[in-house]
Amino acid sequence: MESGRTLLKHIFTCILGAVLFFLVYLYFDGKSGRWDAPGHRRVAGPSAAAAAAAAVELQWEDPGPYHVAYPRNYKFILDDTPTCKSTTPFLVLMVPVAPSDVAARDAIRRTWGNEKLVLGQLVETLFILGLPGGADAHQQQEKLKQENLQHRDLIQSNFQDSYRNLTIKTMMMLEWLAAHCVKASYVIKIDSDMLLHVQNLVKLLLDPSTAKQNYMTGLVWWHSPVLRNPFNKFYIPRDVIAEPEYPPYPLGMSYVMSLDLPGKILGVSPQIKPLYIEDVYLGMCLKHLSVSPTDPPEKTMFIVDPLHPLSACSLSKVIAVTTTSIPQMTSYWQRSRQPESKC
Ligand SMILES: *[C@@H]1O[C@H](CO)[C@@H](O)[C@H](O)[C@H]1NC(C)=O
Repeated sequence: MESGRTLLKHIFTCILGAVLFFLVYLYFDGKSGRWDAPGHRRVAGPSAAAAAAAAVELQWEDPGPYHVAYPRNYKFILDDTPTCKSTTPFLVLMVPVAPSDVAARDAIRRTWGNEKLVLGQLVETLFILGLPGGADAHQQQEKLKQENLQHRDLIQSNFQDSYRNLTIKTMMMLEWLAAHCVKASYVIKIDSDMLLHVQNLVKLLLDPSTAKQNYMTGLVWWHSPVLRNPFNKFYIPRDVIAEPEYPPYPLGMSYVMSLDLPGKILGVSPQIKPLYIEDVYLGMCLKHLSVSPTDPPEKTMFIVDPLHPLSACSLSKVIAVTTTSIPQMTSYWQRSRQPESKC
């Protein structure tokens, strides 16, 4: 009698355990590590798409002060450029720019953005932007459409364009390049306030010692400390990044990469929370890929904080240099096109 009751007890415990286990299995979404309602679980079946969409919506959390809202289901709302679709450039110039900054775009179109055939290589320029903001956003968007009708060189995605969202802009740029430009060889991402010496860049990229894959160069910060002073503009607390320094990264003002890298970076990025500091974030992705950035062969090639005015000698050796105004950029560009001056 006594052993029969014990047996029953055991069976009851087992059933209870199994039921509990099943319930936990049902409610706990192991992948995201989050408790979830059963209706939102990703299930295979006819309504899987809807369920998956709902699950993804739930995953989207406020990125907080140190990260950005990426990935999301952003789309490209302007991208009817022929570049990389009906052409195969050697080099793509990608210029992130504020939607309102038509003056910078026009200056670039008149200067270094207009050098299409350099040392026999096809070079094409594109501008990447998000959505305009402010009260006249609708008007601005109409103007952008007109501008693009004329030039067909705008790549616009539907995230809110802002300084804090630069990482989103860079990631959308990589998405676009990975989708359209894998047959092209290199891209340079270059800010709109820079002078670009296209010929010096093409010369470097054509050099046999320049890698054709896993290549990224620019002004490389090899030991950039994570700033712990809360009053610093780029303060990052220890619970966001524990390491005392960032992995090496080329400064965001202008970096060059071989066009195998956009897809590879996008491949690892889901494993790394997107920091709002876009160049640092790319450095984190590169580290994950075990790809090291490369120093340019000369220190004179990428300059962030130059002493203006630049000498003819400096101008002849530069690839990318920060400028302080459109007239200055324009005059540097004209001077840089004059026959090579001796140093
Ligand atoms: C960044 O873009 C997202 C998506 O458009 C938007 O929700 C968010 O408000 C933007 N953040 C900033 C700081 O502009």
